[in-house]
Parts: sequence; structure tokens; C-alpha cells
Amino acid sequence: MTDDILATIRDRAGDAPVRLGLILGSGLGHVADAVDGVSIDYADLPGFPHAGVSGHSPKLTIGTLEGQRIAVLGGRAHYYEAGDPKAMRLPLEVLKALGAEGVIATNAAGSLDPEMPTGSAMLLTDHINFSGLNPLIGEPDDSRFVPMTDAYDPDWRRGLVAAADATGTPLSQGVYAWYSGPSFETPAEIRAIRMLGADAVGMSTVPEVILARFMGLRVSAISAITNMAAGMSDEKIGHAHTKEMAPLGAAKLEAILRNFLANMQ
Ligand code: HPA
Repeated sequence: MTDDILATIRDRAGDAPVRLGLILGSGLGHVADAVDGVSIDYADLPGFPHAGVSGHSPKLTIGTLEGQRIAVLGGRAHYYEAGDPKAMRLPLEVLKALGAEGVIATNAAGSLDPEMPTGSAMLLTDHINFSGLNPLIGEPDDSRFVPMTDAYDPDWRRGLVAAADATGTPLSQGVYAWYSGPSFETPAEIRAIRMLGADAVGMSTVPEVILARFMGLRVSAISAITNMAAGMSDEKIGHAHTKEMAPLGAAKLEAILRNFLANMQ
């Protein structure tokens, strides 16, 4: 199946290898518009997820941004859609087969840190898999025992922080907790994961990070903070609010990403 998909992609977008893959979260889809290239609907890529969450744009865009050829997944599949923690496996395999050395995942997230308000961007330094689920359950051999120390690539993290500094873009850093969704967390759950050391909470990214590390891809991830988490403010939490607020963080994310790509060796 991957061969057919690769043939379709190469037919439409050419066969030059891509440098990295970018996964866009809720309300962040417009970042793909900045890429000078070709977009292919997921529907034309057999086995790609439907990415049927509003605020996502289910297209694979391949082209150039700041001098680097990249592949952008405009939408992701989430565990909460069909209960499959491996939902992003095929798209990640395709990114790898296209030559990507790694992926930068983005997401919308709630903040657990009063100093990190709505509109902030947060670079993930680590995560807490609060769901207890794992996309590697069922893998048959020892390759399933993936080390997760430094899962978030230290070099890329340094590069993204340098890009934030160079562009004068505020960038927080912290730990992301994966909560399965699709219901939002209760205030008690937020208090609990704050005590456990989380700085932000969201419904995605962690299974992709585990899969990407399994495949030997480098990983970075950035959250666009769309709200203070449940019980932390009077802000109204909901998907409409997420989509409305994501562009604030997305603007920061795009500035950082452009500089990072422009300076990639
Ligand atoms: N919780 C979980 N996922 C989210 C949130 C949140 O507060 N905001 C955006 N995505």
C-alpha cells in the first residue's frame, strides 16, 4: 500500500526527497498555505486517515518553505476518533519513505501554567502519557522497547529556541500531558496532572511521537496554547474556542519554523 501512495505522491509532487515532515494541529492548517508546492487530498492516498476533525485540513502538501523541501500533513487522526493509537502510523511511514529525517508536530493545547497564557507557543521538552495507551502494543519484537529519554530531539530543540530568539518570538518550554479526549478534562484532572509535572494538556501528538521514535525519526513538537486548562480561568473551553484561538499561537509557530528551516544545515 505504501508503494502505491509513494507512486501517487511522486507522480504529482516529484521525487526529490523531503527534509522533514510537519504535522499541523487544530486551527493551524493555514501554515500549509505558506508552502510553495503541491497538495494532495488524503482521500487520494489509500489508507490515510480521514482526519475528520473540523479545523484540520486533510491534505498532504509537499513543497518548499524557506529553501527546504518539506512535507506537511494538514490534518492528523486522533486516538479519540476511532480508538486507534496507531492511527498516524501510515502517514509517518510515508514521511519517512519520502526522505524526512524527522517530524515537527504541532498541536492546540490547554495551559496549566498561569505564566503561559492563551496565545503562547510552547516547545515540548518531554511528555506524560497520561492515557496509558501505546501505539506499539502488539509490535512483535524487541524493537518495541523504544527509549524515550530525549524523545524530543535536543539539537532540534536548541535550533527552535535559537529561531525563537532570532525572530524575537516568545517561546515557552514545558511538558505536555496526553489526555485521550474527546471530552475535555475536569478541573480535578487538571489539578492532578499539574501536580504530576505537566505544563500543557492536549489530545494528540504523544502517540505520533512514540511511533516516530520507533521509526528512528527525530522529533520536535510545539503547542499553540488556545486556552487555560479546565478550572484555571473563566475562559470558555471548547473546540470552537480552540479553533478561534489557535491562529494566535500559529503566527508565533510559523515565525519560529521559518527561521529554523532557513538555518537548517
Ligand atoms: N485540553 C485538551 N485538549 C485541548 C485543550 C485542553 O484544554 N485545548 C486545546 N486542546
